[in-house]
Amino acid sequence: MTKKWWHDKVAYQIYPKSFYDSNGDGIGDIPGIISKLDYLKELGVDILWLSPCYRSPLADQGYDISDYYSIDPRFGTMADMERLIAEAKKRDMYILMDLVVNHCSDEHEWFQKACEDPNGKYGHYFYLRDKKEGELPTNWRSYFGGPVWDDLPGTDKQYLHVFHKKQPDLNWENPELREEVYKNINWWLDKGLGGFRIDAIINIKKALPLRSYPADRDDGLCSMQTMLKESSGIGTFLSELRDRTFKRYDAFTVGEVFNEKPGELPDFIGDNGYFSSMFDFNETIFGHSEKGWYDASPITPEDYKNCCFASQEKAGDIGFLSNIIENHDEPRGVSRYIPEGDRCDKSKKLLAALNFMLRGLPFIYQGQELGMENLPISSIDEVDDISARDEYRVALEAGLSEEAALKAVAAYSRDNARTPMQWSDQANAGFTEGTPWLTVNPNYTRINAAAQVADENSVLAFYKKLIALRKAPAYKETIVYGALEPVWRERRNLMAYYRKGERTLLVAGNFQREQQEITLPKPYKKVLLNNDKDIIEEKETITLQGYQVLILEM
Ligand code: GLC
Ligand code: CA
Repeated sequence: MTKKWWHDKVAYQIYPKSFYDSNGDGIGDIPGIISKLDYLKELGVDILWLSPCYRSPLADQGYDISDYYSIDPRFGTMADMERLIAEAKKRDMYILMDLVVNHCSDEHEWFQKACEDPNGKYGHYFYLRDKKEGELPTNWRSYFGGPVWDDLPGTDKQYLHVFHKKQPDLNWENPELREEVYKNINWWLDKGLGGFRIDAIINIKKALPLRSYPADRDDGLCSMQTMLKESSGIGTFLSELRDRTFKRYDAFTVGEVFNEKPGELPDFIGDNGYFSSMFDFNETIFGHSEKGWYDASPITPEDYKNCCFASQEKAGDIGFLSNIIENHDEPRGVSRYIPEGDRCDKSKKLLAALNFMLRGLPFIYQGQELGMENLPISSIDEVDDISARDEYRVALEAGLSEEAALKAVAAYSRDNARTPMQWSDQANAGFTEGTPWLTVNPNYTRINAAAQVADENSVLAFYKKLIALRKAPAYKETIVYGALEPVWRERRNLMAYYRKGERTLLVAGNFQREQQEITLPKPYKKVLLNNDKDIIEEKETITLQGYQVLILEM
């Protein structure tokens, strides 16, 4: 494996709208991010991924871009963005923007021009089909519900959108479109970006010719996955993308790739992969149901362990996956992976250590370092997330009561991760002096950055220790490059593994309330991290307390 500049880094995802509001309009912004760079530096993170802040109608919170060359005024100006890149650089930090090029916004100039002249140049930037009465071009179901086809305004055509109807899909088969994308990427990289997080990329290659598949629900539609399984040849697009852009700048890229095909991992993240890395979503997709959120099964600690190990095994030393506990599309990890009733600082630290010490690149999502939790909701009217609103409808249609449907939505709503960052116990959690665009989680008086900065036993302090350990000269090589070897794999609610490189480390976590014993093959040399006060041990036998996690040098 060729060594790369980003291998030993720690990344942090910022959701700009909810990070910090500098001007009191209730919306987080780029000057707000700049004012918190020292907090992030102090935490120890190196790479900052910003969810989209390009000009956008925000139909899907910025994942619907109407101008790839400008910053939305709600987030700031281009000068603010340039200042952010420069201020980050001063602190040896890198900025990643979100690359959203499967689709743009219906308010993008290209789409407007396609409506004016669907047979002209811009008509070919999209997937357009003649409208037929009572029949859709294909029966695919959009990720956000309903058919993927809508009428192209002012014409007798329809256009394809695999996400929201305000997110028309771009036609990657058209070389002119691809040139436009590359031009924009290089324009940004010339500004000094460190790279990109690449949105929904697996969708750019459609199975051609577009056709219908057997329906999988009463709505007569089929899941997008059915079409994607049939598509092939995405590699041609992705290698061209890499060669024309990222590779020339040695940029870091992380792909949002769900379900690449078996055996394709080296193509994606191997030495000359399409991307530097891609997210490991194995844990987050666990328990999903084709029927909808209401039918999902919760994940147990055993499942969590098996998902993590399966991904580690798959990645081997092919490349680095990017490990996450949560992101802006997922519920808070501590609410999802820690059983109800057991959520406390200690169990949050256990989850942090077990995830952070895996091989790969650790990504922290804003507020995760504080142990932020899901948002309690009491009515569907409180929900902003467009996908949660659709899932609520799906649940009601499946016959669930309003109460049960709300419960399902509350568990997976993307709002959970999008509530404002909890900076302090002041009004609105110190996020804004105005009215926050989305409800602040009422637990901010208890869970907030100011309190945790001052507490050496806080979740935040524990994250700092984990990051410091990853960077410590004595352990860095082992933590970054060392092999991962599961141990006591069949022991219930025990997640333990060795990291073997220059040194040998053992990470052992007791993922349950009751204590359990482990017996080491030989005495350990040193305790590198412990989320409990002491270690109860007798010779080589250690009694791990409920939710205790240890990182030992062997
Ligand atoms: C990705 C983003 C998500 C967005 C979707 C469409 O999955 O993470 O937030 O809604 O793509 O762009
Ligand atoms: Ca603002």
